[in-house]
Amino acid sequence: MAKPRTAYVCTECGASASKWQGQCPECGVWNTMSEIVVEAAPPPNARGARAGYAGQGGASQVTRLADVVHDQEVREPVGIGELDRVLGGGLVQGSVVLIGGDPGIGKSTLLLQAVAALEPRLPGLYVTGEESLGQVSARAKRLGLELGDLRCLTETCVERILPQLAKEKPRLVVIDSIQTMYSDQLAAAPGSVSQVRESAARLVRMAKETGISVFLVGHVTKEGGIAGPRVLEHMVDAVLYFEGESGSRFRVLRAFKNRFGAVNELGVFAMGETGLREVPNPSAIFLSGSPEPQPGSCVMVTREGTRPLLVEAQALVDASPLANPRRVALGLEQSRLAMLLAVMHRHGGIGVYDQDVYVNVVGGIRVQETAADLPVLLAILSSFRNRPLETPTVAFGEVGLSGEIRPVPNGEERLREAATYGFKRAIVARANAPKKPIKDLEIIPVERLAQALEAAQ
Ligand code: TYD
Ligand code: MG
Repeated sequence: MAKPRTAYVCTECGASASKWQGQCPECGVWNTMSEIVVEAAPPPNARGARAGYAGQGGASQVTRLADVVHDQEVREPVGIGELDRVLGGGLVQGSVVLIGGDPGIGKSTLLLQAVAALEPRLPGLYVTGEESLGQVSARAKRLGLELGDLRCLTETCVERILPQLAKEKPRLVVIDSIQTMYSDQLAAAPGSVSQVRESAARLVRMAKETGISVFLVGHVTKEGGIAGPRVLEHMVDAVLYFEGESGSRFRVLRAFKNRFGAVNELGVFAMGETGLREVPNPSAIFLSGSPEPQPGSCVMVTREGTRPLLVEAQALVDASPLANPRRVALGLEQSRLAMLLAVMHRHGGIGVYDQDVYVNVVGGIRVQETAADLPVLLAILSSFRNRPLETPTVAFGEVGLSGEIRPVPNGEERLREAATYGFKRAIVARANAPKKPIKDLEIIPVERLAQALEAAQ
């Protein structure tokens, strides 16, 4: 077979060249030229063909949008509730889902449990490029999984995997991991950007043409992105990230992108002796569980995806020996912390410029919502004054640069969740105060940061 023609494309600006160069001739960035296969004519997009816009023989045709017959996506619930929640209600047939996370977080464990749960309805094939058959089967036995006819393949070359799929005809494939896969059409080394992208592209095309669902495992780089090109995130239907602290047994699966469901949806799992167990009522695990109120702690109600979650923010403020005191934020954006401290100084009259400030979100969860602003400031204040928030208090609200407290979506739902867990007092933006009182919950509506700091005395 003739070697296919390849070209080099800049991963930054998309410029192409026929030879490899260290620096992109267009944008001037170094080490971004990566090899791709140049196809004579791209095969018709299978999804497009089904939707009815790619005509036969390559001639395209215009259709009235109202006349398009929409084929409803077919969903198969996995049977692991928290995974189904993050997927948006089950696995969509022919979809490609990328699961990223640090090594050892539990990606292989979760997917093995998922394929085993699906096996009776969606016969699966587990392709591993990282472990031996023995290791995979030993893990399956340890997990006590009902394996049925679940098949496994150790292979890293996509051109050898695709014929196996045609022969074995599974309806679900796991690729563990995409970084170990390579295409023999490219000269680049396995694990390189071009190989990861090309292998993924072939698997995505296969999924769209055959309707086989694919789970891709992706490793995460030190910077927190999935190793390999960002284009991987654009190619797949859903990107789920597995998060968690190495010391904690709790794991959070977050939908970063989902064409078939809500983004930022969270699924919570606990890692135990027999693998990952779902935690259907996760609110309680993100509280430190300390029986007495402690200084430097405030509980927030965040809403990640479609459900409210009670999460504890902890702060430690202590006199700094350094000329540039430390500001450390774990589970929260560092720049957000700096901004909050500036607002607290300017609009709350409390300066901590000679103090080290550490903020941590309990349970290894990452909070991305601005609703965390107010509780984080209250935790900082409580530590600074060395005085706990006496009554069990929750707070949520965005803090603006001019010292205003802004409302966040779904206020009432958050307040009800807090009341369910026995909180007695809530400090929230005025517009978040509910019209009807909530039983056993005192609402303190605030408009300005100064009022909030006063209320938290
Ligand atoms: P694994 O799924 O191999 O992680 P990944 O594929 O993301 O690299 O998970 C490995 C970790 O999980 C390992 O540290 C051991 C732990 N573990 C358990 O605690 N209980 C179990 O039942 C299993 C299978 C793994
Ligand atoms: Mg693994």
